[in-house]
Amino acid sequence: MGFRIMGTGRAVPANAVSNDDIAKFVDTSDEWISQRTGIKNRYISTGETLNDLAKEASEKAMEMAHVTADSIDLIIVGTLSPDRIYPSAACELQANIGAVNAIAFDINAACSGFLFALQIANGYFATGGAKRALLVGAEILSKMTDWTDRGTCVLFGDGAGACIVDYDKDAVVTFSSGSDGTKGDALYCNNRPINNPFLKNESSLDHTHMDGQEVFKFAVKTVPRAIEDAMEKAGVTAQDVDVFLLHQANLRIIEAVAKRLKRPMEKFPLIMSEFGNMSAACVPILLDTQIRNGTVQRGMQTVMAGFGAGLTWCAAVFVY
Ligand code: COA
Repeated sequence: MGFRIMGTGRAVPANAVSNDDIAKFVDTSDEWISQRTGIKNRYISTGETLNDLAKEASEKAMEMAHVTADSIDLIIVGTLSPDRIYPSAACELQANIGAVNAIAFDINAACSGFLFALQIANGYFATGGAKRALLVGAEILSKMTDWTDRGTCVLFGDGAGACIVDYDKDAVVTFSSGSDGTKGDALYCNNRPINNPFLKNESSLDHTHMDGQEVFKFAVKTVPRAIEDAMEKAGVTAQDVDVFLLHQANLRIIEAVAKRLKRPMEKFPLIMSEFGNMSAACVPILLDTQIRNGTVQRGMQTVMAGFGAGLTWCAAVFVY
C-alpha cells in the first residue's frame, strides 16, 4: 500500500542572483561560498509571491500527470514562509487552480516539509481519506533572510516544487521520520512579537538565525540513519537504490551521507549550485529536474530525504 508519483513541476522567480552579486553587499566571495556549500546561484523574488510560484509549479505537475484540478482531493503545502499567516497557502492554491474538491492545509516542518507532506498523504491514502494528492514545497525565504549576515544570506533561495501523487494499493513505500524540538534554537525565525493594548512591543520582525555547525553535525548524523531505517523497513540495501534525492542544503553534507552509505556521488543528483537551499521546495524541485532530464525513470528504486529546522527529518523509500 502506498503511492505513485504521476507528475511534477517547479517554478522559481525570474531574478537569478550569483555569488558575485551577493559579494557586492556582504563580505564574502564566490570562492568561499562555492567551496563551503556548493552553491553558485539562487533565485530571489522581486515580486513573485509564494502562491504565484506554487500555482505555476502545480499547473506543470497537473499537465505532466494529465489530470484536472477537480480530480484532486487533498492539497498539502509544506512551507515556513507563507504569504499569509492565515488562511493557509494550500487554501489559496486550491482557489487559484480551482481544486474545488480538495481538503487543503499547510504544514511547517521546515526543510522536511515536502517529505512530511508525502507521509501525511500516504496516511490519508491508507485510511481512505483521499486518492489523489497535490503536494507542494514552496518558500520565499528571502523575506526572512538577514541580508547583512554572511553566514546565512548566501545559502537560501526562493522557489516551489509540486507533485501529483495517486494512491496505489500495490506500491511498497516506507518512511523514517522524526523531530527533536530540544534543538530548535539551531535554526529559527521568531514570529511577530506579542503587541497589544496590554503589552507594548516595538521590536521589528525577526529574521533567520542559524548555528551552522550544529545543523551540519545533526544532518550528517541523522540523515544516513533515517535512510538506513527506511531502507531496512523496505527490505532494500543502499546497493539496491538507483537514486538518492536529498535536501540540497550543502554539498559537503551530501558527500558525507554518500560516504556513510558507501555509495558513489553519481547516485546523488545535485541542484544546489543553481538553486541554493529553498527549504521545503528543494526535494520536489530536485525530483522534477531529475524526472525531466531523464535521470529518474519509471521502475527506479528511489530514496528521498529532507532535514532541517525543528529539528526535523524524514526519509522515504519507494519505486518511481
Ligand atoms: N563568506 C566568507 N566568510 C564567511 C562566510 C561567508 N559567506 N560565512 C562565514 N564566514 C566565515 C566566518 O565568519 C568564519 O570566520 P572566522 O574563522 O574568521 O571566524 C569562517 O568563515 C568559518 O565560519 P564557520 O561558520 O565555521 O564555517 P563553516 O565551515 O561551518 O561553514 C556553513 C558555514 C553555514 C556553510 C556550514 O556550517 C553549513 O553549511 N552548515 C549547515 C547549514 C545548513 O545546512 N542549514 C540549512 C539546514 S536545512
